[in-house]
Amino acid sequence: MTSKTLCINGSDVIIRSDDRRSLLDFLRDDLRLTGAKRGCDIGACGSCTVILDGKAVRSCRISLHDLSANHTTIVTIEGLSNGKTLHPIQQAFIDHGAIQCGFCTPGMVLSAKALLDRNASPTRDEICRAISPNLCRCTGYQQIIEAIEDAAQRLQTSAKQSARPASDSPLAANAPSPSARCRDARSRKKDSKPH
Ligand code: FES
Ligand code: FES
Repeated sequence: MTSKTLCINGSDVIIRSDDRRSLLDFLRDDLRLTGAKRGCDIGACGSCTVILDGKAVRSCRISLHDLSANHTTIVTIEGLSNGKTLHPIQQAFIDHGAIQCGFCTPGMVLSAKALLDRNASPTRDEICRAISPNLCRCTGYQQIIEAIEDAAQRLQTSAKQSARPASDSPLAANAPSPSARCRDARSRKKDSKPH
């Protein structure tokens, strides 16, 4: 049995469960975050990809036991958009026709996000390497690669316009990160406690 608190999509979540279960099971079955797809369940397809502390990981291969106190932040596809505004990577996938059946899409988008967060201007080779753990049986990958290249440009443009108020930005790149949202929520809770 494990009991730990993680920041998942900007909210603190207490995990109390059999620590032999996979992170994918926990996200899908307990939190109903079904954007992480169960494809192979053996680490071979990437459809279960989520971002764990900035890295794209296959959640079917991570047990709750593996989530140490050092692991703090998880982002799933449900946590990517800002309200009704899609994340630029999601929008670029739509605009480039990089989605067909959509089963691989959440994992692809999150692998792309982890890449663009650490490398704002990746080469085509770097993009191919980043999505190599993610299998797509529909698109032939070309549209996906073009979508990620376009998303990189959109994010860079948005970063240049960052002087604009976040609410005006069509790309919502100024939205607080999930971990910042958890920190803010914790300090608000502390401030509201009676003294
Ligand atoms: S379901 Fe996790 S890699 Fe396939
Ligand atoms: S869009 Fe169908 S598997 Fe990628």
